[in-house]
Amino acid sequence: HWPETMLTYLPEDRILFTCDFLGSHLATSELYSTGRPGEREAAKRYFAEIMMPFSNLIVKNLDKLDGLQIEMVAPSHGPVVSNPSYIIDCYREWSAGPMRNKVCLPFVSMHGSTRVMVDALVAALVSRGVAVERFELTASDLGHIAMSLVDAATVVIGAPTVLGGAHPAAAHIALLANALRPRTKFVSVLCSYSWGGRAVEQISGLIGNLRAEALEPVVCKGLPRSQDLQAIERLADQIAQKHRELGLM
Ligand SMILES: Cc1cc2nc3c(=O)[nH]c(=O)nc-3n(C[C@H](O)[C@H](O)[C@H](O)COP(=O)(O)O)c2cc1C
Repeated sequence: HWPETMLTYLPEDRILFTCDFLGSHLATSELYSTGRPGEREAAKRYFAEIMMPFSNLIVKNLDKLDGLQIEMVAPSHGPVVSNPSYIIDCYREWSAGPMRNKVCLPFVSMHGSTRVMVDALVAALVSRGVAVERFELTASDLGHIAMSLVDAATVVIGAPTVLGGAHPAAAHIALLANALRPRTKFVSVLCSYSWGGRAVEQISGLIGNLRAEALEPVVCKGLPRSQDLQAIERLADQIAQKHRELGLM
C-alpha cells in the first residue's frame, strides 16, 4: 500500500481521489459518509490494519494536502467523505498524535495460569489509573487488537510456554504487531511455564521492529504465587510511572 498509493486532485470539483488512503473496509449502500456510528471505527481499523506501518511517511505526505481546497475525499473503498478535514485530522492523530495512557494486553492461557497473571495486572493497572484493553486471543478480532495498538503506549503479551517456546497464538500476535509497526513505547511479557523454555526470549525476538523499551517480564512456574503477584504489582507501578513521565496521565 505504499508507495503505490497515489492521490489525484480534481481542481474543478475539489475532489481528492485517495486510492487506499483515508479509506475504510466499509461496504454500505450509501455512497457518502453521514457520520453514522461505526464509520470512524471502520476508518481507524483500516488505518490500523493497512496504513499503520507507514505512519512516518503518512505524516510527511499529509503536509502536501495543506494547500489544496478539498471538498470531498473519494477513496477507492469505503464511503466518500464530505468532511475531509475530519478524516485528515484522524490520520494525523493516528499516525503522529500522542500515545494514550493505555495498555494493550493480548494473552492466551491453556490452564488458566497466565489468565490469573493477566487479571492481576489488569486490576493493578486500573487501580493506578492506567486503562487496559484485554484481549483473549482465542476469541478476539485481530482488527480490534490492531486498533488498540494504534495508540496504546504499552503492550504486554501474555504467553504461556508450549514446547519450549511461546504459545503459538501469543507468537502470532507478536509477529503481527511487529509487522504493523505501532508506535508502542513500552513492552513486557507475562509468562507461565512448568519446567523451562524460552517463551520470553522468543516473543522479544519477534518484536524487533517495535522501538519500545522492554520492561522486566514476569515469569512464573504454574499459577502465580505471592512473589509473582508482587512482581506484577511492580510491573504495574513501572508502567504507571513511565506513562506519567511521558505526560500521559
Ligand atoms: C502442549 C503443552 C506443551 C507444554 N510445553 C511446555 C514446555 O516446553 N516447557 C514448560 O516449562 N512448560 C510447558 N507446558 C506447561 C505449561 O507451560 C504450564 O502448564 C503453564 O503453567 C501453562 O500456563 P497457562 O495455564 O496460562 O496455559 C506445556 C503445556 C502444554 C499443554
